Amino acid sequence: MTTSQVEFTETELLADADITEPLIAGGVRCHGGFDDEGDYVSPRTKYRVPGIVAWQEKHVAEFSKPVIDIPLETWPENYPNVAQAEHLIRSGVPEPLIGTLTRIGTVEGFGANIRFLQPGNMQKHFEESIQGTAVDHLGKGLFEAHGRDEAGWEKEAGHKDMWFAARDIAFENPTAKIDIDGMLQRMGFGQNAGGGGPVQMPPRLLPDDIDPNLEAIAGLMTRVLMIEIQAFHTFKWAEKWLSDSTLVAGDGEAAKLVSYIRGDETPHVGYLKTGLTEMRDRTWIGSSGKKYKGEEMFRLIWDRALDNSLGAGRDLNRQAVLNEVEHWCGQKANGDSILEGFHAIADEPVAAADRLAAVDQA
Ligand SMILES: [Fe+2]
Ligand SMILES: [Fe+2]
Repeated sequence: MTTSQVEFTETELLADADITEPLIAGGVRCHGGFDDEGDYVSPRTKYRVPGIVAWQEKHVAEFSKPVIDIPLETWPENYPNVAQAEHLIRSGVPEPLIGTLTRIGTVEGFGANIRFLQPGNMQKHFEESIQGTAVDHLGKGLFEAHGRDEAGWEKEAGHKDMWFAARDIAFENPTAKIDIDGMLQRMGFGQNAGGGGPVQMPPRLLPDDIDPNLEAIAGLMTRVLMIEIQAFHTFKWAEKWLSDSTLVAGDGEAAKLVSYIRGDETPHVGYLKTGLTEMRDRTWIGSSGKKYKGEEMFRLIWDRALDNSLGAGRDLNRQAVLNEVEHWCGQKANGDSILEGFHAIADEPVAAADRLAAVDQA
């Protein structure tokens, strides 16, 4: 559905579309629900989704520039891959997968930190009008809707608890048997790492003259957009093995839950792309009054985020997964051969072989 409405109240952007049945998974009341036809409906999309379409159409009509696009294939497939996940579960080492689902849920919860951004009056940063744009609605419902989707709101669970529910369905409430805090520590999350506090910002990149708050907003939106797009690899991966009833419990219910989460992410990608595109194609105004090409400011932010996303950030994730795999294989008498089998079916066998050599020497 498209609409020419481009101005929305916060209440509208947070409003649910009509549903006839709520989503309850593993006994947990989740956000979203089902329409008359039984199709899943994402939360807070009654106005937000048509709004994104309308803002994009308006931007293309006014600026004759396309909305940002970056293909999923920019990023490699999930690590571990599906075959590696199956191998671990069938070898009696499901814990790294339980850990991974816990880690994904935890990271999703951190996504709610986007609410800490305070856009204020965004017009002062741009020469061209921002009336009727996503940028103008970031602090008027869009960041809040995103935060609620990730961390939940009032009685309804969001993605954080939906991933935990998927884990508990697939592995039949494993948390009673596993020290989850210890697991998160090993995977790189200390007691309070990343959760709840103001957003950590990387060092400044843009001219001093550009408002640091604008840089913080554009920077975090870019980094979150890249995480959101990459996550589609993770959804496909998780849905594949979670739907295999010979592998995990729940008759595919956990996989369905992941497919609903995946559906909810589409408006996140949509509004982030739209807002960043609107900023890219405008003229930025420094505090001295000096003007800057948005395209140049955007490019600096984008390139650094992409470098990190494909480089250091990815290495950290892989290492966290591998730490957990090694930890749990180490508890098994035949752990070495399970680990060897795990590396042998990796997507990047050269790196895996190097890693094996390192493990052998340890
Ligand atoms: Fe999410
Ligand atoms: Fe998201």
